[in-house]
Amino acid sequence: MYKIAVAGTGYVGLVAGVCFAEVGHNVICVDIDEKKVELMKSGKSPIYEADLESLMRKNYEAGRLDYTTDFRAAYKDADAIFIGVGTPELPDGSANLSYIASVARQIAESIEKDCLVVVKSTVPVGTNDKVEQFINDFLVHNVKVEVASNPEFLAQGSAVHDTLKASRIIIGVESKWAENILKCIYEPFHLPIVTVNRRSAEMIKYASNDFLALKISYMNEIANLCELVGADVKDVAKGMSYDSRIGDKFLNAGIGYGGSCFPKDTKALEYLARQNGYEIKTVKAAIDVNKEQKLAMYKKASRRLITFHGLKVAVLGLTFKPGTDDLREAPSLDNIPLLLENGADIYAYDPVGADNFKKIYPEGKIKRGTITYVESVEDALIDANLCFIFTEWDEIKGLNPIDYKKHMKTPLVFDGRNIYEVQQMLDAGIEYYAIGRKQALVPMHSLIKENKNVVKILRYQRKLSGH
Ligand code: UDX
Repeated sequence: MYKIAVAGTGYVGLVAGVCFAEVGHNVICVDIDEKKVELMKSGKSPIYEADLESLMRKNYEAGRLDYTTDFRAAYKDADAIFIGVGTPELPDGSANLSYIASVARQIAESIEKDCLVVVKSTVPVGTNDKVEQFINDFLVHNVKVEVASNPEFLAQGSAVHDTLKASRIIIGVESKWAENILKCIYEPFHLPIVTVNRRSAEMIKYASNDFLALKISYMNEIANLCELVGADVKDVAKGMSYDSRIGDKFLNAGIGYGGSCFPKDTKALEYLARQNGYEIKTVKAAIDVNKEQKLAMYKKASRRLITFHGLKVAVLGLTFKPGTDDLREAPSLDNIPLLLENGADIYAYDPVGADNFKKIYPEGKIKRGTITYVESVEDALIDANLCFIFTEWDEIKGLNPIDYKKHMKTPLVFDGRNIYEVQQMLDAGIEYYAIGRKQALVPMHSLIKENKNVVKILRYQRKLSGH
C-alpha cells in the first residue's frame, strides 16, 4: 500500500483521499484552511455528499486517513501526491491555475524522496508539462519527480459512488515508472484503466465533459423545436435512447446545465481553441444555447403574465441539481434576480441549498420584490400565484399534482425539469408549462380563485394570445 498525500479538500481532493483510504492506502489530506481541517478531523465533511462522512469517520478511526495544514510534513516522504485544487474560470474563459502553481511550489520545497505528482484537477492541455518543469526548477532536494495526469469524472451528489465505481481510470503518463505507480495505486479499485500520454489525458477530460454539455444543449434545442411543431421531447428522447450509439443518458431537456464543470469546461475548451487559432463552433454553440435556455421558463412566464409585481411566486429548488448544496451556475441565479427586479414576492424552498442562497440574496426586500425562505414545499406553495420548479429534488418530484391545486391561489406551474406528465396536471386543473412539451391549459374558471389582480392579468393575456 502507498503513502499518498492529497492537496486540496474540495470535491475532487477530499473524495479521492477518502476513497484511496477506503481501499487501504495511507492518506493525508492537506488544506490551507485550518478551520476546515479541524472540522474534518472531527468527522464532519465540509461538503454535502452522500456517504462521505461515514467513510471519513471509518477511515480516520482506522488510522488510514488524516488531515493537516502542514504541507511539508505531508509531502516530504509521500510516494505520490495528488493535486485536487480548483481551477476556477477567469473572466476571459481561461482556467485560473494559481492554486495549482502554489501547490507545485510547496511540493518542490518539501519532497525528500522520489515522488509521483498526480494532477486530478481539470487543467488546459499542456499544463502538466509546465507543472513538471516548474517543480523540477524549484526542487530543494536531489530527488526524482514526475507529473502524471489523472482526470476526475465524479459527479456531485454521487461523488463517492462515482469514484469507487468509476467507468474508467484515465492515466496520462510519460514513463513506465509513473504508469506502474498509478496502476498499483488503482489496482485495489478493480476498474478499467486507460493509459495514454499526458496531453491526451488532459484532453479526455474536456472532450468528455463538453460532449455531455453538447448532448444536453442539443436536447434543449430539440425541445424548443418540439414546442413549435407539437412533438413531446420526453417521447422523442425515449425513442432516441434505444439506439445504443446514442444511449439513454443525458437526454433530459431542461433549463440548462449548471455546476462547477460543464459551464467552466466548455468555456475553457473554447478559450484553448482560440489560443491555438481554431474556432470550436460546436462548443461555442452549446455555450450560447445554455445561456438562453436558463431563462426558458422565465420567458414563458413573462409571456403568460404582464407583470410579476405583487404576485406570490413559489420557487422550488435553488441548487444546480439535486443531491448537492452547490449553487454554482444554477439556473435559479439567473431567474431570481429578474423576478425580484420585476417586483415578485418569492417564497423559495430548497432542502439543502437555501443557506448558501441566503448568503447571496438575504431574506427581505431586494430591488422591487422580496424573498422569503421556507422550510417545506407546502409553505412555498400556500396562496402562491405561480410556481417555478428549478431543481428536481425528490421532495419536489414526490408532490402530487393535486397539492399544487390545493395550496396555490392560482395553480400556474412553470416546470423547468419536466417532472410531471402534462395530462396529469391538466386533470388536476393546473395550467402547466414544461420544456419541449404541450402546454396544459385549463378553463379559466377552474384556474382562477379570488385573486383579482391575477384574474385581470390572466384575462388580458388570454385575450392577447387568443385562448
Ligand atoms: C459533471 C460530469 O457529469 C462529471 O463527469 C464531471 O466530472 C463533472 O461535471 P456534475 O456537474 O456534478 O458532473 O453534474 P451532472 O449530473 O453531470 O449534471 C450537470 C448539469 O447538467 C446539471 O445542471 C444537470 O441538471 C444538467 N443535466 C444533466 C441536464 O440538464 N440534463 C441531463 O440529461 C443531465
